Formats: sequence, structure tokens, C-alpha cells
Amino acid sequence: MQTPALLLPQRPSDAPETLSEYRARGGYGGLANAQQHGAIWLRSEVTAAGLRGRGGAAFPTATKWQLAADAAGDEKFVVGNGGEHEPGSDKDRYLVAHHPHAVLEGLLLAGFATGAQKGYVYLIEDMTAQRAAIEQALAEATAAGLLPFPVELHLGPTTYVAGEETAALESIEGKPAKPRQKPPFPGQAGLFGKPTTVNNVETLAHVAWIAREGGAAFAAIGTAESKGTLLFTLGDEVVHPGVYELPFGATYRDLIEGKGGGLKNGRTLRAFLPAMSAGFLLAEHLHVPIAYETLRPLGTGPGCGGVKIVDDTTDVVAMTIGIAEFFMKEQCGQCPPCRMETNQFVHILKAVQAAKGPGYDDKMKKLADFSRKKGRCSLIEMAAAPVISALSCFADDFARAAGPGAAPEA
Ligand SMILES: Cc1cc2nc3c(=O)[nH]c(=O)nc-3n(C[C@H](O)[C@H](O)[C@H](O)COP(=O)(O)O)c2cc1C
Ligand code: SF4
Repeated sequence: MQTPALLLPQRPSDAPETLSEYRARGGYGGLANAQQHGAIWLRSEVTAAGLRGRGGAAFPTATKWQLAADAAGDEKFVVGNGGEHEPGSDKDRYLVAHHPHAVLEGLLLAGFATGAQKGYVYLIEDMTAQRAAIEQALAEATAAGLLPFPVELHLGPTTYVAGEETAALESIEGKPAKPRQKPPFPGQAGLFGKPTTVNNVETLAHVAWIAREGGAAFAAIGTAESKGTLLFTLGDEVVHPGVYELPFGATYRDLIEGKGGGLKNGRTLRAFLPAMSAGFLLAEHLHVPIAYETLRPLGTGPGCGGVKIVDDTTDVVAMTIGIAEFFMKEQCGQCPPCRMETNQFVHILKAVQAAKGPGYDDKMKKLADFSRKKGRCSLIEMAAAPVISALSCFADDFARAAGPGAAPEA
């Protein structure tokens, strides 16, 4: 299949793209277009593009921008969220390290569209290469007089929850990176209580492309409800691990076999998790076009695209425990239902592993139902998605592990 390269053009070098290299492919042309036509034009191009956020929740970007643009206030902020810390996802790190100017231009555009006077690029502390790339891009753009407002780099702590948008705002304010109660949403009252737009760095790089090439060109790529391209990460389970760009409408076969070269060591694909906080898909779903509208009925979504492979040798109970332990360790402790849910998942799954797990299926589903919407952030639902999905996708494996008499209730 033809794979348009909106974000990851072919390059001779692996170093961060310089300003002159970026400009040679039209870089900062989108910002010039926006400055010529105005903020309303830019917001309408992004509406026409049908762009949805690439930070995981797929929220329509233009709708988010409108909220901040309409919010009263003489001071507004914009934040580019590059706090990626989801196991198996490397796409934001890759993008920032290789194309810092595209992210920066997108941030300037998001600020322009919403009336911001200051911007922040938000990374986390372990991102050494990304930090250097952004610092270099900021220095080049400043020297070239490209920044209509000041942009600062902020490093949050290396935790998963620090990537949640309000946790990122707390960190920029100098506080521990823990999510706030919402509402108010950042667009209403964000950084220092002022209207703030938080966008994922991949979303921002798409914005730069849209402002340059037009919303209609972006909307021409993809499917009815899922527009443009998106980035994926494939891990060591495939022949060619790496970060790849594919248009919506491509299939997971295009990704795993086409880009990744298939599984290593002659292994057979049994299932895969499109992202850590999503539901599993089976090998028979390899042909399903990747789109919000096709994955939703299957109980999953593309998330942030870090694909985890389940092959014929994977111990799915141990793998599910690994996922549950990640969420248990990374939850920030502010909400009792989240603490309880994530701890209990691990406890019950370990009982299954030890063949002492009667009623595990029902217990975990009740826990997930009880916890839904009871957290300050969506980690509480993200933790449940892969675990509950594993119970049904791999029901026989769990029943076998749990031992006789512990089979799930019909
Ligand atoms: C636990 C948790 C971790 C998150 N981590 C990230 C992250 O690393 N990067 C990111 O852009 N969004 C992350 N998000 C989503 C953000 O809260 C927010 O939705 C996103 O930055 C908005 O950008 P978008 O509209 O462009 O997707 C996370 C959310 C949760 C609940
Ligand atoms: S839901 Fe969990 S991770 Fe989110 S704020 Fe509450 S305790 Fe923290």
C-alpha cells in the first residue's frame, strides 16, 4: 500500500532535522500562511482536516482549540505534550528527536489559533536526545526571528502519569506531576489558572502539515471518520522494529508484516495489543482497516500506537500480570478506587497464576465496572482495558491456569 510520509520524510541523516533542512521542505510555511490568513482560517483548516489528538484520547483538535480561543482572559498558554512513557511506544520520542522543528511549528500554530502568549514544550527527564533536539530547534528558530511568542522547555519526572495533561501543567507550575480534578478543563483554566491548550507533539506536527498543505489535503487521506496518518511503534518481536507512519485505513497486516517484516524466529502471531491501554485484537483481525470507527466495535482503538505482539509462545497470564503491574506501579495514589482496582487486578491475576483463582473473571469485571469514571484521570479505565480484554480473548489460557473449578462463570 502507498504510505504518505507527512511526518517522517525520507532523510539521508538520522540527526535532528535542522532549520534549513526543514525549510527546504516547506517548513514554517504553515506559520506564514496562518499569519497571513488569521486564527479563524487556521481553526477552520484544522476543522476541515478532521484532525483528532494523537495523545491517546483522539479528541478533535479544532474543538479543543475553540474552547481555549473562546475562553475569557488576557493571558493564555499552549503546551506541546511529549511526556511519552507508555511501554512499547516510542513515536513521540522519535518525532521530537528527529523533527523538532515540525513540533515547534505546530506549537506556534496552536498558540496562534488559541491566542496564547507563551508556549512550553513538555518532555520528561530521561529524554536526553529529545531535549538536545528541542534546544537546538529553539535556538535556530529564535535566531531566525520565527517565534511570535516565547517558548520554554520543561522537563517533567519520568513517570507515566506525568504525561497526563493536567499532571504536566502541575509539573510546569513546579508541583508534583499528579492529575487535577476536571472540570475545569485546561482550555478553561489550565496553567496558573489561565486558558491553556495541551496538544500531543504528534498532533502538533500534523498541525504544521495542515497549515502548509491545507485541511482538505489532510482529510483526503484516511477513512470516513479517521483522517490523515498516524505513527506506530513496533518492538523487538518483529524483524524490523521501529517507528512507522501509516495512513488510517491501512491494516495491522500492513504494519506488522509490511513494515515490521513479520515476527522473528518463525513465530506465529496469535493476537496483538494496538496500545498498552487498549483491548486485544486476534490474528484474524490483521486485515481490519485501522480507524476509530472500525476498531471501536471490536472494543479497542489505535491509542498511541505502541503495538505489543502475542505469539504462539507467549504466556498470556504472565503478560497480563506484567501489564497490570505497570498500571499498579504507575498510578499516582490520589484516588482510592484507582489504587484498589490496580492492586486488586495484580492480586487476583497472581492467584490465577498460582492456580488459586476461583471467580477471578467475575471479580475483575466487577472491579472494572465499579471503578469506571471514579478517578481524576483516565488511567483507571486504561488499566482495566487490556486486562478485561485479555480475560475474554484468552479465556481458555486463564481457565487452565486458574485450575480445576476456577473456570469463568458462563
Ligand atoms: C495516565 C495518562 C498518561 C498520558 N500520557 C500522555 C503522554 O505521554 N503524551 C500525551 O500527549 N498525552 C498523554 N496523555 C493524554 C493527555 O492527558 C492529553 O489527552 C493529550 O496530551 C492531549 O493531546 P491531544 O489532544 O493532541 O491528543 C495521557 C493521559 C493519561 C490519563
Ligand atoms: S485515576 Fe489513578 S492515576 Fe489518575 S489521578 Fe487518580 S490515582 Fe492518579
